[in-house]
Amino acid sequence: MTVCEAPGKVYLFGEHAVVYGEPAVPAAIERRAAVTAEPRSDDHVRVEAEDLSLNGFTVEYSGGTGDHPDVDVPTPLVEAAMGYVDAAVRQARDAADAPDAGFDITVESDIPLGAGLGSSAAVVVAGIDAATRALGEPIDRRELADRAYRAEHEVQDGQASRADTFCSTMGGAVRVEGDDCEPIEAPNLPFVVGFDGGAGDTGELVAGVGELREEYGFAADTVESIGDVVRTGEALLADAVAEGAPGSGSEPTGDAEPPAELLAELGELMDFNHGLLSALGVSARSLDSMVWAARNAGAHGAKLTGAGGGGCIVALDESDATETALSFTQGCEDAFRAELATEGVRVVEP
Ligand code: PMV
Repeated sequence: MTVCEAPGKVYLFGEHAVVYGEPAVPAAIERRAAVTAEPRSDDHVRVEAEDLSLNGFTVEYSGGTGDHPDVDVPTPLVEAAMGYVDAAVRQARDAADAPDAGFDITVESDIPLGAGLGSSAAVVVAGIDAATRALGEPIDRRELADRAYRAEHEVQDGQASRADTFCSTMGGAVRVEGDDCEPIEAPNLPFVVGFDGGAGDTGELVAGVGELREEYGFAADTVESIGDVVRTGEALLADAVAEGAPGSGSEPTGDAEPPAELLAELGELMDFNHGLLSALGVSARSLDSMVWAARNAGAHGAKLTGAGGGGCIVALDESDATETALSFTQGCEDAFRAELATEGVRVVEP
């Protein structure tokens, strides 16, 4: 039995624009999906999922997601979860050159599904890692990130950037621009997440931005402006690291916080980024009200994270004020501090 777990992420900057070749900077957070893989003697795949915001379901199937599981939970969520596990198993079989390998798979996750925190990427990354290791054919991180991207790309009909899967594999903050993915150094930023209990339809939201971009030059300019925000934010992070901002090196830094000026500037850029995403039609009333609650509570900045339409916002606040304000905000189901996950995917049981 092999167990691997991979982190979710927040977008500091750049979701949606990354689909059109602009850079994005996601950061991994300490909320993880754990996948257990146990090889079987036949070619079947049995999946058991718990804590996926789905009440838990168990299903046995031998091939594709077309075999509809007989469980009493919302169909699109089950199909989505099944699709990702299925694609991860296909990648693992391919990597290990074991086309008939069967598995008992268990998925446990404390990352809300489809809410902009990279739940599917974490399941795919941990799933491929666990399944290849269970077959005695572990793959290196670059290949893992690449295969996880291909799995997501396939399930999401070609509408996926490398951002989520690369970030979940590597941990820490990363920079993604097209096929170019690199870990970057970043201070340990005080992320606070607000979750509205819902989920957006990533495919629909990505398609919506695509249509706007085709129709209006100013929508295309908005996408480019998001790229400018990301480049400005990246330069701030790089300067802070060069100046030795607390939390930015590989040394443990205890409770040291990044300088207030850096947080203020990053926060301003996050506010700007949220405005541009809003102009592209991917925010929602619940997300806007959480963003404003965070700002009014004194957060340095706040924005939606991920595809939008519903799900999560991320704010920067080293005090407890934003978390408290969010917990009293109508429409906010959960508010929590999210620590940067400096370690990406890891083996829990070899
Ligand atoms: O909602 P999430 O975590 O799947 O993020 C989607 C981010 C997009 O930029 C909208 C799409 C992508 O694949 O990069």
